[in-house]
Amino acid sequence: MWNFPLFPDQASTIAKHVDALYFFALGIAGFFTAMICVLILAFAARYRRKSTADRLNPPTASRTLEIIWIGGPMLLMLTMFTWAAILFYKMYDPPVDALEVYVVGKQWMWHAQHSEGRAEINELHVPLGRPIRLTMTSQDVIHSFFIPAFRVKQDVLPGRYTTMWFEPAKIGRYHLFCAEYCGTNHSAMGGWVYVMEPVEFQQWLSQAGTGASMAEQGERLFVQYHCAGCHRGSQTVHAPRLEGVYGRPVPVQQGTEVRFTLADYRYIRDSILRPKSEVVAGYEPVMPSFEGQITEPDLLKIIAYIKSIGAKEATQ
Ligand code: CUA
Repeated sequence: MWNFPLFPDQASTIAKHVDALYFFALGIAGFFTAMICVLILAFAARYRRKSTADRLNPPTASRTLEIIWIGGPMLLMLTMFTWAAILFYKMYDPPVDALEVYVVGKQWMWHAQHSEGRAEINELHVPLGRPIRLTMTSQDVIHSFFIPAFRVKQDVLPGRYTTMWFEPAKIGRYHLFCAEYCGTNHSAMGGWVYVMEPVEFQQWLSQAGTGASMAEQGERLFVQYHCAGCHRGSQTVHAPRLEGVYGRPVPVQQGTEVRFTLADYRYIRDSILRPKSEVVAGYEPVMPSFEGQITEPDLLKIIAYIKSIGAKEATQ
């Protein structure tokens, strides 16, 4: 069977927009390349040494020509820039109702974790027609999460969370790659993304697995690592309570000044691993560091738990 696709599937809602811009840019590049080639040949033939073409009074200035060759390319470039900028903003602004999935890259595999609790390795199951937001980090070196059929690619960095979103638009199985050279088995670091009917996806989520949601697993870790000892109940003399902290500004002591920082994934992760770097105003820097003791997937679960107690508080 002759099967040599020149283009990956268009399996996300953004794919056709990315492709349209790609072909527009390719078309412009192609047009100018062809035009220049043709003109080189035409002028070479017309003004060759033996030709009798008129060489008298060559024009030395032409305002019309200058306006065309400055204005034309400028308009084309601005069109491309505006178009690309609009698309860029769209690609980096996930809808608020997006389904959250957490991804940890490590040499050499992808670990994906769904909020409901199910985790998978080198596979990612997602429902059709629902925006998916990935929060990603790496346990070792820089990786890059790449799904060609969705036209999305994002670097995955150690010590930092990066995000990316997409909306699957076609049922099927699509390649998943690591697109950043990360060591010996970089080329084997990949797998498959499965786009499923929403009903099937729900069944898949509830199958097997741990039964416990990410937040519930996080709560267990919260107790296991003795976070609860200081951050919960009546013990909160030396440590701030964490209910409702997620997504709110936190007053942080810096020298003699207090500044506010948002309690997001970044802040909570840093507070666990480097608790002395951003101490909440009014508290002593007594918390020990958990650097090197908690894996990235477990950190995400603990954050999910802290996030969930915020949500509970808010609805009370
Ligand atoms: Cu991970 Cu290349």
